Amino acid sequence: MKNSKITRKITQGMYVLTVKGGGCVVDAVARVGSRDDAPLISVAVAKANHSHQLLAENEKFALSVIGEQTDPEVIQVFGFNCSKDCDKLAKIETIEVEDVPVAKATLGYMILEKIDAIDMGTHTLYIGKLIEGDIFSDDEPMSYVYYQEHKDDLTRITTKRINPPGFVRPVAIFIMARQYLMIINVRSVDSVKSISRKKINY
Ligand SMILES: Cc1cc2nc3c(=O)[nH]c(=O)nc-3n(C[C@H](O)[C@H](O)[C@H](O)COP(=O)(O)O)c2cc1C
Repeated sequence: MKNSKITRKITQGMYVLTVKGGGCVVDAVARVGSRDDAPLISVAVAKANHSHQLLAENEKFALSVIGEQTDPEVIQVFGFNCSKDCDKLAKIETIEVEDVPVAKATLGYMILEKIDAIDMGTHTLYIGKLIEGDIFSDDEPMSYVYYQEHKDDLTRITTKRINPPGFVRPVAIFIMARQYLMIINVRSVDSVKSISRKKINY
């Protein structure tokens, strides 16, 4: 294979899939036909994702379109955490539409009724029929290429400083000063803000 990254150039967007209990970021979304005058949308969901199980348990799900101005926190929460360990729907504001949670901080949503699930090995291709939809803003939809070009900024996670109890600071200063005097390799215990990046494949 000369360069498999050519698949990243397939023009596709960035979406938040939400379903009762959680959801995840997806880019493998396509309009694939229509039935009873309603568009059919496909989405490929990895079997390893908890959202896969949630989708198997529910008849309806939502796809919200991520815009270029959408808060990157939405991508961080839904794209880099598992719904099993983290209540994503509590972290990101949602509204209920057709009994489905929908991420509010996006440019709009589609509510889809599951009509088929095709086994693709590592993924299941879910096909949904559009039963409701709305547009919140005229923001530019984020393309997957845009995400790739800006992902250093979009996936930067800043952790807030937690104020320690009053006595901790003098004790920490003492320990650090002692270490310095003993010419021990001094490493900062805590920095005002730390930035961590998760390893990503997308
Ligand atoms: C840019 C981007 C695109 C992604 N596209 C997909 C996708 O199309 N299908 C998929 O199953 N997971 C995709 N993911 C991965 C899931 O969003 C991620 O594994 C998530 O943490 C799964 O959460 P869950 O375990 O709660 O389902 C993507 C992640 C990112 C950051």
